[in-house]
Amino acid sequence: MANYIPDELIAEITAANDIVEVASSYMKLKRSGNGYKGLCPFHGEKTPSFHISPDKQLYHCFGCGAGGSVLQFIMNIENLDFVDGVKMLAARANIPIPEGDSPEVSDKTHRRKQAIYKINSLAAKFYHANLMKSDNMVIQNYLIERGLDANTVVRFGIGYAPNDYDTLTKYLLEEGFSEQEILDSGIARKSEKNGNLYDFFRNRVIFPIIDVRGNVVGFGGRVTDKSLPKYLNSSDSPVFSKSKTLFALNFAKNHCRDRIILCEGYMDVIALHKAGFEYAVATLGTALTKEHCGIISRYTKEVLLCYDSDEAGQKATAAAIALLKDVNVRTKVLVMKGAKDPDDYIKLKGAAAFEQLIIGSENAVLYKINKLKQQYNTDVLEEKLELINKAVEVFAEIESPVELELTVKDFAAQMDVNPETVFAQIRQYRLSKGKKQGFRQTKVPKPEIDKEGMLLGLMAANKSVYLKMKKLVNEDFFEKDSCKAFYNKLVQLKEKGFEADSAAVLASLDDQHAKSLSGMLTAEMPYENPEKAAEDIYVAIKNSKTNINKIKSPEELSRIIDLIKQQKKTGRRINTDGVE
Ligand code: GTP
Ligand code: MN
Repeated sequence: MANYIPDELIAEITAANDIVEVASSYMKLKRSGNGYKGLCPFHGEKTPSFHISPDKQLYHCFGCGAGGSVLQFIMNIENLDFVDGVKMLAARANIPIPEGDSPEVSDKTHRRKQAIYKINSLAAKFYHANLMKSDNMVIQNYLIERGLDANTVVRFGIGYAPNDYDTLTKYLLEEGFSEQEILDSGIARKSEKNGNLYDFFRNRVIFPIIDVRGNVVGFGGRVTDKSLPKYLNSSDSPVFSKSKTLFALNFAKNHCRDRIILCEGYMDVIALHKAGFEYAVATLGTALTKEHCGIISRYTKEVLLCYDSDEAGQKATAAAIALLKDVNVRTKVLVMKGAKDPDDYIKLKGAAAFEQLIIGSENAVLYKINKLKQQYNTDVLEEKLELINKAVEVFAEIESPVELELTVKDFAAQMDVNPETVFAQIRQYRLSKGKKQGFRQTKVPKPEIDKEGMLLGLMAANKSVYLKMKKLVNEDFFEKDSCKAFYNKLVQLKEKGFEADSAAVLASLDDQHAKSLSGMLTAEMPYENPEKAAEDIYVAIKNSKTNINKIKSPEELSRIIDLIKQQKKTGRRINTDGVE
């Protein structure tokens, strides 16, 4: 990675931010052995596989493989690029970054993203100002008819894209942005016919999509008539990923500790916020993803699904329930009758009625059971049996014994059967399922013992090991690219006289390398004497190196075979260079 913030400064900034402290502000950590563990904030899970080693100042998730130093942690959790990650940690530790060699100027990806943020922000202002013009009363009236007022329009930064070919693009060019930057942002497209740039959004109401740090990352645009497509969304860009973004989380994040409402559309969210439910968010015209679930689980304890009441909405509800099962949140479903979506519902019946729906919302299991009940006629014996069988599969998912007992007893009473019979059937179902899946593995996998990683970890942690090994190994000694990169960075830092530990080295490596090394480096190494350990590992790596790959001729091969035969006979170890 071409970064131009000096490695020493990165190391200093990394050292000044305790990873346990930083991570604790995003997640709950529990003491475990020499370190801490918790539910991984990067992949959403129910049993903790995320580990932090405070000694080494590294984190690693055995579930998804995420890992690195505090810098990689902050980059990944805040979705920051390298430069912004360093800046955030620097600010946190009150370390000034010298203006002179300001990193922005030299980091290309960072510069590119900054340009897009600026373009998006200017575009949002442009659309909004355009909507407020008196020429656009018709559009203003459309919004008023839809129940919005000026406050809401301003709060959400709602705008209107003029019905022109390239007004916004021209304005951005005048502001000094390059064609490429404007294309990168998604604000403009290139005409295949004449190669000219044209505005992507034309004649649409515009909803800016703003990330939790307040950056405009993209836009949604709705037609004001019956034409199609009804909505257009910005394509993914270097600053925008639909699978990781939730509309209005920038507002909801401050109101959703107890509960978040997840709905389908922009207008639903806006109507909910206006009615006082400021903990509503929506996906952006795409299905809920694992990444969304991971993000949601960091902000809240409970998700209230509030999708449209049509069939598509109900399907999406079932899919969301299934995905949310893998993260640590309660899932409830809000059932709406007499309206298509929350926006309609509030318009028809008001905020107080919606509040009642929230209070009466069912947990996901009950929701599924109720759905099933609607599908079967319990007066017909066969159907009743089938219903009970299907219900058993749903009950089998309930983890809390008390919840299971209450739910099953209730259901059994309705079905007029003995609850014990249902319990027995649940046990049987769980057993058969467990057998099929070879019983669910909840155990955290042991980290792979990696000799190269161990040796590097020892070299970084211990000065005399470093000095000794430095005489024996070089870059080529290591097979893995990530290990080569680590080795080189370690030597660089040490040669500048810097006390570089593993975290400092990882902080200067790119994300992929840091990730692949974090597991090996956080692994506990039971050794008494680091120098002896390093020596043993060194010898082990040397011995395990086969030179088979490097054999260039048949003569060489037969020489090696002879050597091996000889070795077998004498029982002495001879390496393939023929030197004892
Ligand atoms: P309104 O009619 O404005 O109230 O929108 P809605 O939210 O009720 O509409 P709908 O349920 O049809 O859509 C829900 C969400 O899906 C919207 O907010 C959009 O994000 C997305 N969406 C709807 N139609 C389209 C479309 O044609 N293309 C794309 N890309 N997304 C769409
Ligand atoms: Mn709607």
